[in-house]
Amino acid sequence: MTRSAAADLWWKNAVVYCLDVETYLDWDGDGIGDLRGVTERIDYLAGIGVSCLWLMPFYPSPNRDDGYDITDYYAVDPRLGTLGDFVVLLRTAKDRGMRVVIDLVINHTSDQHPWFKSARRSPRSPYRDYYVWRDEAPPTTPAADLVFPDAEDSIWTKDERSGQWYLHHFYRHQPDLNYANPAVRDEIQRIAGFWLELGVDGFRVDAVPFMVEDTDVGLDPHALFKDLRAFITRRRGDAVLLGEVNLPGKDLVRYFGDGPGDELQMLFGFPVMQATYLALVRKDARPLRAALEASPAAPRECQWARFLRNHDELTLDQLDDDERAEVFAAFGPDPGMQLFGRGLRRRLPPMLDGDQRRLRLAYSLLLSLPGTPVLYYGEEIGMGENLEIDGRMSVRTPMQWTDQRNGGFSPVPPSRLVRPAVDGRFGPMAVNVADQRGDQDSLLNWFERMIRRRRETAELGMGQLTLLDAGHDAVLAHRVDEGPVGIVLVHNLGDEPCLVTVELGETEGCELTDLLEVSGQPLGDGGRLELKLEAYGFRWFRLQPADLRSAP
Ligand code: GLC
Repeated sequence: MTRSAAADLWWKNAVVYCLDVETYLDWDGDGIGDLRGVTERIDYLAGIGVSCLWLMPFYPSPNRDDGYDITDYYAVDPRLGTLGDFVVLLRTAKDRGMRVVIDLVINHTSDQHPWFKSARRSPRSPYRDYYVWRDEAPPTTPAADLVFPDAEDSIWTKDERSGQWYLHHFYRHQPDLNYANPAVRDEIQRIAGFWLELGVDGFRVDAVPFMVEDTDVGLDPHALFKDLRAFITRRRGDAVLLGEVNLPGKDLVRYFGDGPGDELQMLFGFPVMQATYLALVRKDARPLRAALEASPAAPRECQWARFLRNHDELTLDQLDDDERAEVFAAFGPDPGMQLFGRGLRRRLPPMLDGDQRRLRLAYSLLLSLPGTPVLYYGEEIGMGENLEIDGRMSVRTPMQWTDQRNGGFSPVPPSRLVRPAVDGRFGPMAVNVADQRGDQDSLLNWFERMIRRRRETAELGMGQLTLLDAGHDAVLAHRVDEGPVGIVLVHNLGDEPCLVTVELGETEGCELTDLLEVSGQPLGDGGRLELKLEAYGFRWFRLQPADLRSAP
């Protein structure tokens, strides 16, 4: 792919960083993070090599689902700032070469949204048909279809005034929008168009598969997303749609569409993410290898988004019951660490008992599997969770900047914080940006070096994956090829050092360069790479014709 084509598909080589404005930095001193705080930290983010910011919802909201319950799609939650502050943030990010994508939460609104309030007042409301209603009592919702089984036992709730039931895949205060109604589809385009006009570079589309389920109107989900994509392309060709679609592989890839990037161009690789945890627990690369084998390559104009953690529970719903129980036993044995019977409400470092070797192994995988890495704020310093906070909020604690009060997030007394900070071993006293900046061996500085390397290694975002044979169950060896260059990656998930021989295939006239500067590595005869790996060790190499120039 030429340089200019690659730049058009900027998101294939982005390093995405997700943050919640509310918990990042409190600039005006009211205990709540704000847009000005994020703007103040754009240079920090640019410094670690983040090239795309994903902002979680910052719209007005009663905040009963942390902002994923919106009452106004065209405004900023006044607690977080103003539209003016948003534009300053956007402009600052762009000045530092950083893109910004925002959450598009359009499966549902808040029940406090003026549309739903009006719809509820009367069946004759012009907004009645913005939502999904039924006359008869609904059938029992199968347990597997309940997203929040702790709070809801049905996806339908009776509206006492009209005697009809409305659909809500999530909480009852989040009524689903009715996509069969063309007026709703128009509204969504207006919303996306508004933010594109302000300058955002795309959207993380929330809760995608739910948008078209149970509407009973035979709506084709793919037509819906193709329409949205086409609209966005008309407005801004290079804006990206990144979909949250937690489905098994074969259903998942359908959301890439059928043409070059004609639907959702990026999809989170949920199946591979879940298999990574099983592989980490077993110290055995085979589950990950199997998941990668089963996962189709993303089409040329599409991409997998790679992630290890996000703001939700670590969902393990695609593992079978025994596998999930295995991960629970190793990484979240206490029932208080588990959620909804399918996930863990923890961050990665405490799950790995703070083992830096293993953490770096996991993040080296994240950065080197073909796709675009997506980090969740605080991962770069190894933040933990606060299990004292209910539900999924345990991993949405204030960013830890210093070892001062509230980790430097806010000057208010801790009782006035929007959310308590982490306490103890992974809290700000032990884990913070300021301390790690001064330490060359810190996770933060490691991330900065690895992200630089990842960005210089565009093949990982563009190339084709081949799984290699390393002759060892604990070792994943893979290769990503783009043009004349192959990137070779070897990861030991095991807790024992090992000697492996990786079969590279055709290497005639090629040179091997160590990309992590662990040590020099000669290329063996017949395309064989012999390596000694430490426990949880990993290596990255570039294999290329001897006369080709590339990054030092
Ligand atoms: C997505 C979000 C989650 C939210 C839900 C409903 O799954 O990631 O946090 O609760 O959608 O909007």
